[in-house]
Amino acid sequence: MSKRQTIRLTLNGEPREWSVYPNELVLNVLREQEFLTGTKYGCGIGECGACTIHINGEPILSCLTLAIACEGKNIRTIEGLARDGELDAVQTAFLDHSAFQCGFCTPDMILMTRALLNEIPNPTEEQVRDYLRGNLCRCTGYASIVRAALDASVLNARRGVPSVEE
Ligand code: FES
Ligand code: FES
Repeated sequence: MSKRQTIRLTLNGEPREWSVYPNELVLNVLREQEFLTGTKYGCGIGECGACTIHINGEPILSCLTLAIACEGKNIRTIEGLARDGELDAVQTAFLDHSAFQCGFCTPDMILMTRALLNEIPNPTEEQVRDYLRGNLCRCTGYASIVRAALDASVLNARRGVPSVEE
């Protein structure tokens, strides 16, 4: 069996050292070693978006990403999106619009929307739908999620949050 390797990275703003096998996925390390279960296991093959996290500010599918590829990187999960006790504008907008039902897709939808607003601070509805097209929701029909994303851009601008976080 291959040997574990030690890697160093930043997770939700905190330094971390992970001991991982070469074939271990970030998704499994987050859920089983860090107990950060907001990142969901959906399809496991890159088709549902449930496992979305940010790596160096970019949205990444953690079910397709090896942990050893995260050496020196900056990972953010849904658990680390609020800052100093204040919810991110996207989280607030999702709450305001009740943009969830079972909640399974909510962490990935919020992280994708955050990445969208970092890239396009004032998106159109078409841009929102296009950006979120790889993230599946089995419950809401998407309308409330799109409304929340559009409102989040307004709230974001009002708060003056920097467009690129890391
Ligand atoms: S679990 Fe990663 S894309 Fe579905
Ligand atoms: S709220 Fe249930 S999958 Fe989206």
